[in-house]
Amino acid sequence: MASSSPSIFIPHAYDSSSALSLSLLLCFIAFVSIFSFILAPGGLSWALSKPRAKAAIPGPSGVPFLGLVFVFTSSLTHRTLAKLSKLFNAKPLMAFSVGLTRFVVSSQPETAKEILNSTHFADRPAKESAYELLFYRSMGFAPYGEYWRNLRRISATHMFSQKRVSGFGSFRQDIGSRMMEQVSSSMEQNGVVEVKKVLHYASLNNAMMSIFGKCYDSFGNGGDGYEVEKLVSEGYELLGIFNWSDHFPVIGWFDLQGVRKRCKDLVAKVNVFVGDVIKEHREKRGGGDFVDVLLDLEAENKFTDGDMIAVLWEMIFRGTDTVAILLEWTLARMVLHPDIQTRARSEIASVVGNRSVTDADLENLPYLQAIVKETLRVHPPGPLLSWARLSTQDTHVGPHFIPAGTTAMVNMWAITHDERVWAEPNRFNPERFLDEDVSIMGTDLRLAPFGAGRRVCPGKSMGLATVHLWLAQLLQKFEWVEHGSVDLSECLKLSMEMKKPLVCKAVSMA
Ligand code: HEM
Repeated sequence: MASSSPSIFIPHAYDSSSALSLSLLLCFIAFVSIFSFILAPGGLSWALSKPRAKAAIPGPSGVPFLGLVFVFTSSLTHRTLAKLSKLFNAKPLMAFSVGLTRFVVSSQPETAKEILNSTHFADRPAKESAYELLFYRSMGFAPYGEYWRNLRRISATHMFSQKRVSGFGSFRQDIGSRMMEQVSSSMEQNGVVEVKKVLHYASLNNAMMSIFGKCYDSFGNGGDGYEVEKLVSEGYELLGIFNWSDHFPVIGWFDLQGVRKRCKDLVAKVNVFVGDVIKEHREKRGGGDFVDVLLDLEAENKFTDGDMIAVLWEMIFRGTDTVAILLEWTLARMVLHPDIQTRARSEIASVVGNRSVTDADLENLPYLQAIVKETLRVHPPGPLLSWARLSTQDTHVGPHFIPAGTTAMVNMWAITHDERVWAEPNRFNPERFLDEDVSIMGTDLRLAPFGAGRRVCPGKSMGLATVHLWLAQLLQKFEWVEHGSVDLSECLKLSMEMKKPLVCKAVSMA
């Protein structure tokens, strides 16, 4: 027995230790392959995508399974993406994941142009909030196709044409004058002006007037515009929220952030509000606003009331915040650079004299226009061009293969702050645009704050006409002076806002 026992036990001991090391080896291989899968360039969603690209697009893998979630939950996404693109030597194109969503981002004019001008990137990814707010029927989120094309054509002719933008010139001027009265009364009552508030109300009235033919006297608590202001702010906030359900389908079942519930509540209220506006217009036609235009074309284009509500509502808050935010940044710069402010005022004085500035003067104010361009460069309201694009079919950007269903973004902020594109990019220097005439309408991707290609912002001329006129009015009437220090920190929501709203003094020039 004694002699037989080793022959029984030794091979068994050998078996179990080799089995152990085999399983350890297998575990190790599984561990390494799972992690190299998860840590693949661009992260999980790129590793799962097929067919796999021959040469991977460079990019961070991010946190396992989550990807770059935390970049998107922060309020400086544009800055972090710019840093990562530099770090990964991926300015032309960087891949990354957020949960199961596959992204590419361009931080270079050449690839930005390729993406924005391509028909293969003419769709938008529909966020849950946009879908719940019924915006898949509005122009901004409608899929690329007949319905969207029709909306673009109608609004280009009847809403955004040069003739119509000019036709609203006297309204803009009136609203601008009312805004200046508010500035004066705020100075009398408080000794300072909360700039954003005044600009936001003016901008909302401007959009309400051209779209709904309605104007409000006041928006504060108890004012006749209080309810509509609340509806607009809620929609704006919901579209700007980072919604986990958009990227982690399982979480979507639970609506943990309550986005779906809030959207449903809001849609019910918006349907009543805009529905009533449409009803009023049906009963009394002839105001010449955008509701009248859509009603005239209703039968021919088969718009339902639901379609019209989505289209009109989107216009209201696309047209409101961008304009107010851009003007707030511009005034912040005027306060910080008194020399630039003085030069702009002298230009206005020499062209306009003592009468009130009008639309017709704007083409003779190149320095004022250069100030707005420089603000759009340094503080673009849509640093990631606000709404991304979606590839509708397998395609390429440069040498890189992009599968259908990839979300593509352009980091306009990274481009406008790249020292290889702009000399001294962090210096606020409007003069640069007097030396070189750069178009900002989407043909030159070094500065395309309104996007480019088929889905370029249709409201760009209207937005600029408003910003130019109001800035000229505000500079003609007041000197803008510091009250405490101006804080240029940014906060990216649906648009890039000042984190600390501008509060300053407006000293009357009269
Ligand atoms: C300073 C003002 C504005 C800025 C910076 C701005 C910026 C933008 C940007 C970056 C886009 C995305 C473009 C792209 O994907 O290539 C966009 C789209 C859009 N903007 Fe503007 N915008 C402004 C004013 C306005 C105004 C005044 C309106 C309307 C009253 C408007 C209506 C729209 C609409 C409807 C879209 C979606 C177009 C589509 O998908 O076909 N915007 N805007």
